[in-house]
Amino acid sequence: MKAVVYRGPRQVTIENVPDPKIERPTDAIVRITSTNICGSDLHMYEGRTDFEQGRIFGHENLGVVQEVGPAVERIKPGDWVCLPFNISCGHCKNCERGLTAFCLSANQPGIAGGAFGFADMGPWPGGQAEYLRVPWADFMSLKLPPDAEQKQTDYVMCADIFPTGWHATELAGMRPGDAVVIYGSGPVGLMAAHSAMIKGARSVMVVDCHPDRLKLAESIGAIAIDYSKEDPVQRVMDLTHGMGADVGCECVGYQCHDPAPQRHENPNLTMNNLVSSVKFTGGIGVVGVFVPEDPGAQDELAKKGKIAFDWGKCWFKGQHIATGQCNVKAYNRQLRDLIHAGRAKPSFIVSHELKLDEAPDAYQHFDVREHGWTKVVLHPGG
Ligand SMILES: NC(=O)c1ccc[n+]([C@@H]2O[C@H](COP(=O)([O-])OP(=O)(O)OC[C@H]3O[C@@H](n4cnc5c(N)ncnc54)[C@H](O)[C@@H]3O)[C@@H](O)[C@H]2O)c1
Ligand SMILES: [Zn+2]
Ligand SMILES: [Zn+2]
Repeated sequence: MKAVVYRGPRQVTIENVPDPKIERPTDAIVRITSTNICGSDLHMYEGRTDFEQGRIFGHENLGVVQEVGPAVERIKPGDWVCLPFNISCGHCKNCERGLTAFCLSANQPGIAGGAFGFADMGPWPGGQAEYLRVPWADFMSLKLPPDAEQKQTDYVMCADIFPTGWHATELAGMRPGDAVVIYGSGPVGLMAAHSAMIKGARSVMVVDCHPDRLKLAESIGAIAIDYSKEDPVQRVMDLTHGMGADVGCECVGYQCHDPAPQRHENPNLTMNNLVSSVKFTGGIGVVGVFVPEDPGAQDELAKKGKIAFDWGKCWFKGQHIATGQCNVKAYNRQLRDLIHAGRAKPSFIVSHELKLDEAPDAYQHFDVREHGWTKVVLHPGG
């Protein structure tokens, strides 16, 4: 089959690789019809992780079941399914509690959590390919309703970014009526904004410096704050009578930077801005990725996975912070049902639907956050 293979910093190629096979009785093989490029792929694409050359990218996958192992009961060939980016067994201590992002069976001993095509998240190949092997397929697969094919650019967002955006608001402790500030208007920040709207926020403020992305935030009723033109903290204060937002979401991660075009990385920028723009006793949900080590960082602290954090201010304000990968299965059924009912439409962020062969070019455009490249969906098989 054809697959998108990582060949070193800013190099991906389309290669012929062996077709995946059923390896365990609980496996399924899914023919991929939609697979997204994610901001998380870019950390790996830029060589800012230890993702191994020769591995296949792709953790946001949707398709049709092709074949199932003898122990698979819930899904059968022909079913449309969306796969969580997390790989999880369903029976370990963490999975039983719903913490599927921290499955104890999907990675090497001592590390919780697995994912398709992801650095440090187990050996699993990704789904930017024609076929994907899905372990623990009964537990993993989210079955889709009859409008699956027609709405696949919506449903594919249930693999990662829609649940992740929702998770950011949950981690922050958002409640209906809250004023919510979101740093990052990439796909994840936009999904956090979409989630906050659906959950009944009284206002949603989204901070970024890319006009196309901010425009998308405005298109769903959020207030756009361009931090290349104004101080985002001051603007949030002005919009909340000097109190600060009730809750805040970090949807950027360790490569956050000073405004474009300089884009000088400044890894404490979003966290410290959040502490300043969220109210006393407010909550902060951090889904943007931070890493334990970042040898490619521009400053000494960041190389060791540390940031200069306004801890005193955070403590004085009595804020709480929650972090981590999203437990996709905790939300993906409800989000699927919101899409089916027409109450959610996460595909509003999709700018490009391309063939698998076009992935190398798409990675380049998306990586530089080129104007108009907000979210890429690849369709292997055309
Ligand atoms: N926790 C999870 O489960 C999970 C899942 C998916 C993605 N992620 C992570 O979420 C983050 C965002 O993903 P994405 O796909 O939206 O990525 P993205 O890189 O496309 O978007 C990030 C956006 O943040 C903006 N930004 C940069 N510095 C900023 C700053 N100082 N203030 C405000 N905005 C700033 C950029 O201009 C960009 O538009 C990434 O770190 C990704 O790895 C986490
Ligand atoms: Zn993703
Ligand atoms: Zn598990």
